[in-house]
Amino acid sequence: MAAKPTPADRFTFGLWTIGWTARDPFGEATREPLDAVEAVHKLAELGAYGITFHDDDLIPFGAETAVRDEQISRFKKALDETGLKVPMVTTNLFTHPVFKDGGFTSNDRSVRRFALRKVLRNIDLAAELGANTFVLWGGREGAEYDLAKDIRAALERYKEGMNLLTQYVTDKGYDIRFAIEPKPNEPRGDILLPTVGHALAFIGELDKPELVGLNPEVGHEQMAGLNFAHGIAQALWHGKLFHIDLNGQRGIKYDQDLVFGHGDLLNAFALVDLLENGAPGGGEAYSGPRHFDYKPSRTEDYDGVWASAAANMRTYLLLKERAAAFRADPEVQEALAASGVAELQKNTLDAGETLADLLADRGSFEEYDVDAAARRGFGFVRLNQLAVEHVLGAR
Ligand code: GCO
Ligand code: MN
Ligand code: MN
Repeated sequence: MAAKPTPADRFTFGLWTIGWTARDPFGEATREPLDAVEAVHKLAELGAYGITFHDDDLIPFGAETAVRDEQISRFKKALDETGLKVPMVTTNLFTHPVFKDGGFTSNDRSVRRFALRKVLRNIDLAAELGANTFVLWGGREGAEYDLAKDIRAALERYKEGMNLLTQYVTDKGYDIRFAIEPKPNEPRGDILLPTVGHALAFIGELDKPELVGLNPEVGHEQMAGLNFAHGIAQALWHGKLFHIDLNGQRGIKYDQDLVFGHGDLLNAFALVDLLENGAPGGGEAYSGPRHFDYKPSRTEDYDGVWASAAANMRTYLLLKERAAAFRADPEVQEALAASGVAELQKNTLDAGETLADLLADRGSFEEYDVDAAARRGFGFVRLNQLAVEHVLGAR
C-alpha cells in the first residue's frame, strides 16, 4: 500500500482544478465557488506541496487595487499558516471576451498590448510569491478558419511576446523560467503550438531559448493521438521539461482532464517509471513539481472533489511503487536484457572508430548474416506482459 502523500512528494494542484465549479458548454455550475484560502488549507491537509493559479483564479478580472491587495494578502496568510508553496503561476488569456481571438496573437494589436501588460503584471506577482516557473497555455491562440489567421505572422507575434517576457525577467533579475503548454484544439478549432514537437521547434527560434521550456499535459498529447510518455522522453532529451500537467484522457475526443491514471493507465505507468527512475540504470529524470491539472467531474460534490484530489496523488504513488517493483524484479531485468533495451545505449560505432573504419568493416555488411539477424525475436510482448502484471499487482 502506498504511503500517504507528503510535501516531499512535491504534489501541486491548480487552484482552478479543485475550484472548478463545473460549468460546461451545455450546463450550469454544479458546485458553489471555492474560496482560495479554504483550497490552500484543504490541499495542505491532504499532503500536497503546493498550489498554482491563474491571476483571475485568485483575483477577479478587473478588480480594484484594494480588492486585489486584500485577496493576495489573505492568500499569503494561508500559505504561511500551512507551509504550502507556489512553485508556478500562469495568466488567464482566454476567459474574458476580449481574448476571443487570442492574447499574444490576436489580429487586434490593442488586445496584444493588453495581453502583454496582463502577463507582465502577473510575473511580478509570481516573483513576489517565489514561483520559479511561469506557464503559458495559449488556449485562444489559434483559429477556426484557415484564411482568417496569417499563421506565420501569428508565430512572429508569439515570438515577439515571448522575447519581451524573457527580456523582462532578465531585466528584473527574476529567477523565473517559462513553460509553454501545447494543446491541439479546444477552445479554438486549431491552437498554435499544438504538440510538444511544435513547441520545441518554436522555442529554438527565440532570443533566450534557455529561459523557455515546456509544460506538457497528458491529455493534450493524447487528444492528438500521440504517446505522452514518448513526448516527455523527448522533452527531457532536449532539457526542456520545465513543468508537467498530470491528468487522464480516454482517447481522441474533447479535453477530459480526468484524474491521473483514469485514462491510459499503462502509459501513466511508463510515465511515472520514466520520471522517477529515468533510463534503465536508474535515477530521477525530473525533479520539478508533480502538478495535477484535472477537473473534478461535474457529477461530484465537494466530498467528491477532495476524494478526486487525493486520488491523483494516491495513483501516482501507487504507480511509483509498482515501477520500483518492476525494476527490482529479476525476471524483468532478464527480459529487459533479452529485449536489448540497454544495448540501445551503446554507441553504434566504437570509440575512435571512423566512417572509413565502418566502410572497411566487412562483418557489418558484406559478411553480415542478415537472415540470422532478421530471425531474432525481441521479446517485447513478454516484457510488456510483465509490466501489465506489475501494474495489476500480480507480481
Ligand atoms: C486545459 C489546460 C489549462 C491550462 C491552464 C494553465 O486543460 O486546457 O490544461 O487547464 O493548463 O489553464 O494555463
Ligand atoms: Mn487539459
Ligand atoms: Mn494544463
